[in-house]
Amino acid sequence: MAKVTVVGSGNVGATVAQYVAENDLADVVLVDVLEGVPLGKALDLYEASPLHGHDRKLIGSQTYDETKGSDIVVITAGIARKPGMSRDDLLKTNASIVQSVATQAVKQSPDAIFIIVTNPLDVMTYLAWKTTKLPSQRVIGMAGVLDSARFQSFISEALNVSTEDVRCMVLGGHGDLMVPIARYATVNGVPLTELLDADKIEALAKRTREGGAEVVALLKSGSAFYAPGASVALMVEAILRDKRRLLPCAVLPEGHYGLKDLYVGLPAILGKNGVEKIVELKLAADETEALKKSASSIRENIDAMNKLLVTA
Ligand code: LAC
Repeated sequence: MAKVTVVGSGNVGATVAQYVAENDLADVVLVDVLEGVPLGKALDLYEASPLHGHDRKLIGSQTYDETKGSDIVVITAGIARKPGMSRDDLLKTNASIVQSVATQAVKQSPDAIFIIVTNPLDVMTYLAWKTTKLPSQRVIGMAGVLDSARFQSFISEALNVSTEDVRCMVLGGHGDLMVPIARYATVNGVPLTELLDADKIEALAKRTREGGAEVVALLKSGSAFYAPGASVALMVEAILRDKRRLLPCAVLPEGHYGLKDLYVGLPAILGKNGVEKIVELKLAADETEALKKSASSIRENIDAMNKLLVTA
């Protein structure tokens, strides 16, 4: 029986737990330092199980004992953005949270695959990789699936077609410089560039880049959780069922796209070993340029974090 630990019982963590159990993917342990909250949310989700017709165990805990031997550990713990805050503002607080969580979680589950959700995403994934000392294949950041789902939603709305037929990938970091690749977007195989003019596509790409902030501005406190939760569940499914799905994920390139020594969103095949392969697409000059720019901004934040951690 597969077991998934979700650390952080806020909206994102609880939604991940919900979708993982309700999609019948695995038993779930929900962990948080907050007294009672992970236990209450896990109990509530467990009591919904007869209504959803699954027999998945859902356990809440304030410690890591129950997480032992997890197949996947999802880290959502950290503070969320408030209106006007950038993801990078979260750097310092969330770095110490992610370090502490990753250290405790990997002790109980040294064979697990880690999926990181805490922002700033690419930097926190890098930190989790450094902290756990796991092979990079087993430490993956969730962002590209979410950003692509947003782009897919906006494309389907603009064309008035089913979301099911829209395929696309958003690469780069999970920030304002993310790179929606319109040239590879299709509607059931038909290139998007044949269906919409460049200005309209750019408007959809812009809304995608600002997708997280659009939700934050409306919610006033907290950030998105339904689409992020569903994005993690999709990655969990790809791994546990060894589906070998090609999905944009934050991964550690080893010279792919001319990049290394950082985590950044690239197309990857996800299967039972985590990242089975990073796929190198032929990018146009402006796309390569945009990816490099996004990577540079991640690199600056990794450097900033390393300084903060040294002085802490
Ligand atoms: C978002 C936050 C979670 O994109 O980064 O909604």
